[in-house]
Amino acid sequence: MNHASRWDHWENVYTSKGESQLSWFQETPALSLELIEQAGVARSSAIVDIGGGASRLAESLVSRGYEDVTVLDLSAAALAAARSRIGEKASRVTWIAADVTAWEPSRSYDLWHDRAAFHFLTLARDRAAYVARLQRALRPGGHAIIGTFALDGPERCSGLAVSRYDAEHLAATLGRGFALIDSRPHGHVTPWGATQKFQFSTFRRERS
Ligand SMILES: C[S@@+](CC[C@H](N)C(=O)[O-])C[C@H]1O[C@@H](n2cnc3c(N)ncnc32)[C@H](O)[C@@H]1O
Repeated sequence: MNHASRWDHWENVYTSKGESQLSWFQETPALSLELIEQAGVARSSAIVDIGGGASRLAESLVSRGYEDVTVLDLSAAALAAARSRIGEKASRVTWIAADVTAWEPSRSYDLWHDRAAFHFLTLARDRAAYVARLQRALRPGGHAIIGTFALDGPERCSGLAVSRYDAEHLAATLGRGFALIDSRPHGHVTPWGATQKFQFSTFRRERS
């Protein structure tokens, strides 16, 4: 999928559907918050949520006292929804409307979080572009938490094909320089009660 059709797809999703119609919606991003705590980042650490969409993670992080939170998403409509929900605290978050595969990070981060965005990259060249951004943006010693559909998870999401992973396959895709330090299965329950199997893996960027 090229950039323009990807952009069209996601803008259309977020301008035409409410939260309860989005399979990935969750009231509280409990597992992400737990894994971020487990990574041991300080409240002043720089955290970026890749493909954060309209999720409540940024809001939850700001409420817990994290001071340097960035959300990147292709869809400006998704970011606008997240911003307006957070209200006055939105000014404490940096919002970036960009395609991660073409993004030019202008700073580094201590923690990279991605729930259900990476798995949409079904072409090798897009995955390579993503990993190049991850290498550039995540400081050595920093953590990447990546949640994708598991090997026995759904084959599609939001009408799009996805690539499914286990921790080893994800580690091999990220390549050398990322040490796998934790992986766990997760069952996400959609707003209509179906369970989707995910895996969430945490990597530490090696100090070279
Ligand atoms: C399934 S949703 C998950 C949203 C959010 N992470 C959550 O947990 O609620 C996938 C998100 O990835 C975003 N996305 C898809 N491809 C992207 C890309 N190439 N660059 C940036 N964002 C992307 C979509 O706009 C969408 O918000």
